Amino acid sequence: MGLGAYRPALDHGITNPYAHLRQYVVSGTLEPDIDPAVTVVPNDPIGLIRELKREEGNDSDIWLCGGGRLAGTLLPEIDELVIKSYPVVAGAGVPRFDGVFDPTLFDVDRRTAFSHGVTATHFTRRR
Ligand SMILES: NC(=O)c1ccc[n+]([C@@H]2O[C@H](COP(=O)([O-])OP(=O)(O)OC[C@H]3O[C@@H](n4cnc5c(N)ncnc54)[C@H](OP(=O)(O)O)[C@@H]3O)[C@@H](O)[C@H]2O)c1
Repeated sequence: MGLGAYRPALDHGITNPYAHLRQYVVSGTLEPDIDPAVTVVPNDPIGLIRELKREEGNDSDIWLCGGGRLAGTLLPEIDELVIKSYPVVAGAGVPRFDGVFDPTLFDVDRRTAFSHGVTATHFTRRR
């Protein structure tokens, strides 16, 4: 998570939102000892992801929770996307990928459409 994705839970006093997972929060301002279950990463999130991918015997997936600024930085390391769409026009908001202009191709693996108009689409990065 970036600090922006971690913040909504933190504002309600929740410092360990995904207790079943190893959790990393990318932030240069968050206190490093916010929670024993959370590792605060002050810089180089790309380095963190490459290190996790290299971990010997690590066959677990790495889940990028968000938000858009962190996703923009991590785009070169993203192998799969799960995007939910809602039938709402907001007009403005937080970009899903807040980075430099760099069109990156993905292929649709599967899409689930729900009766209330929401879709969930799984994509794989085109190599
Ligand atoms: N719909 C969903 O599934 C979903 C999921 C997650 C988040 N969200 C929403 O997305 C919003 C947050 O997104 P966001 O783009 O504003 O924030 P974000 O990427 O989560 O966090 C931005 C903050 O995290 C740190 N950070 C992130 N990337 C960094 C990088 N590359 N290098 C250094 N520091 C970095 C910085 O904190 P410091 O200033 O402390 O250094 C920065 O201010 C929230 O509204 C949240 O609710 C939605």
